[in-house]
Parts: sequence; C-alpha cells; structure tokens
Amino acid sequence: MQDGDHRAKLLRALEYRRSFDARLERMDRETPFDRVHGVDTGTPVELWELPEADLMPIGRNARYAPAPVRTVRNVLASCGLVHEEVTFVDVGCGKGRVLLLAAEFPFRRIVGVEASETLCDIARDNVHTMSHVHGGYDRIEVVNADAAQFDVPGDAGFFFFYEPFSAEVSSTVLERIESSIRQCPRDVLLCFTGRGQPEDEDGEAQSRPVAAAAAEARAGWRAAGTVASPDAKFYDSFLFEYLG
Ligand SMILES: C[S@@+](CC[C@H](N)C(=O)[O-])C[C@H]1O[C@@H](n2cnc3c(N)ncnc32)[C@H](O)[C@@H]1O
Repeated sequence: MQDGDHRAKLLRALEYRRSFDARLERMDRETPFDRVHGVDTGTPVELWELPEADLMPIGRNARYAPAPVRTVRNVLASCGLVHEEVTFVDVGCGKGRVLLLAAEFPFRRIVGVEASETLCDIARDNVHTMSHVHGGYDRIEVVNADAAQFDVPGDAGFFFFYEPFSAEVSSTVLERIESSIRQCPRDVLLCFTGRGQPEDEDGEAQSRPVAAAAAEARAGWRAAGTVASPDAKFYDSFLFEYLG
C-alpha cells in the first residue's frame, strides 16, 4: 500500500472511531448508568494499551466499548426466554455493564468471560459497588479466560456477543457451546449485537454483526429473529437458536 493510501485509511478509521464514541456518549447521556450507580462501564479502552495486552488473544485493533443500556435491557426483556430457567453468559464482558443489566432480570446465574485481567478487576469492582445498593448481584461471576477455551456452564441458555472478536474465534466458541449442549441437552439462544468494530471502515455498512457469521456458517444454528435496538440500527440484535 502507498504511504498516502495508508495515511488516508488510518484517518478514516480514526474519524469512524470518533463518531462511534460520540454516538456512545450521546446514548449514555440519554440513559445515564455509570453516574446513577457510581460504576465505571462507559469509557472505551483500547486493548493494546492494557499492561497484559501482549498476553491476550486479541486482534490488533480490538477494544472495549460497552453495549448501550437501552439496547441490552430491550433485548433481554423481549427475547422470549424464561429467565429463571437459564444461566446468562456475556462472551467478552469487559467492564461488566451487560452483567449488571442482566442482574435486573431473574436469570439463574450470570457469567461474564473476559480475556483481560484489568477489565475483569473493573467488572468485579462494579459488581461489588452495585451489590451495596441492590440484591441479586451475588448471581454474577466474572471469569478471566479466553472465550475460546472457556468451560461453558451446563445450564447456560443465553449467550450475548457484542462484537468481541472475529468470526473465526466465534466459530471456536460456538464449537464449545455445541459440545456443552451435547453433554447437557437444553435450549440455547445466541444473541449477536452491534455491527463491526470502530476500526473497521465498513462496520457501519455491514448487515450482520461480525461474530454472527459463525452461527450462519455452522450447521445446527437457525436464525430466530432480530430485535430492533431502541438506540440505533447499528445495535440491532440477531438471535440464533440451536436445533442440533
Ligand atoms: C466490544 S467489548 C463488549 C463488552 C461487553 N460485552 C459489553 O457489551 O458491554 C468486547 C470485549 O471482548 C473482550 N474479548 C476479546 N477477545 C476475547 C476473547 N478471546 N476471550 C474473552 N474476551 C475477549 C475484549 O477484551 C472486550 O472487553
């Protein structure tokens, strides 16, 4: 690639990231969460900046950014689950915002798996802070692990993916989920939210979240509907169910 092309590509990526973060800030102002609860979930983190970055199984430009509050509440309320019957898993839970939101629903247990130790510590602090105010947060567990090697709980019935990684890594994660279902047969729903990471110039234009491609490609999963985001089309959620 010519130097000029490279520079133009970087500038476009930066501009895309800026507008992504501005939209996130706007949504967080409209539905304040951190300020109301005294937690830290809103500020994005570039994963390469973390002290453990070299040890993490992450893509070059991967980052933490939280899913919008209203989007998550809406999809958890309307996905048709009997919450009491399943354990919820946020795959790539970052600072734990989705775990805290899941605790507003009567899930049996709520598990977050996250590759970064630093983000896990922040997520645990956030859970600790919330647990002083409300009950039910003792159902949350934050696991510091690579999702591609994570032991899937035998009663996990809802997996939330907010653009944590590539379709290839997703495929490995789905393989593990499928193997867990073979061992403990049950209904399972996958939820893919968001369309592309900010460094991805084409992110806005993608019709499906990146990780959802794995569910489309693997036999056994069937599209089970789309939940429109109340925040922006970018955050629509695509559901898949396991047929075996
Ligand atoms: C876009 S953030 C989403 C955070 C959270 N799910 C939310 O919606 O608020 C993606 C997260 O996935 C994590 N991640 C990336 N690759 C991972 C892997 N292989 N295993 C576990 N976590 C991973 C990143 O560290 C990051 O925190």
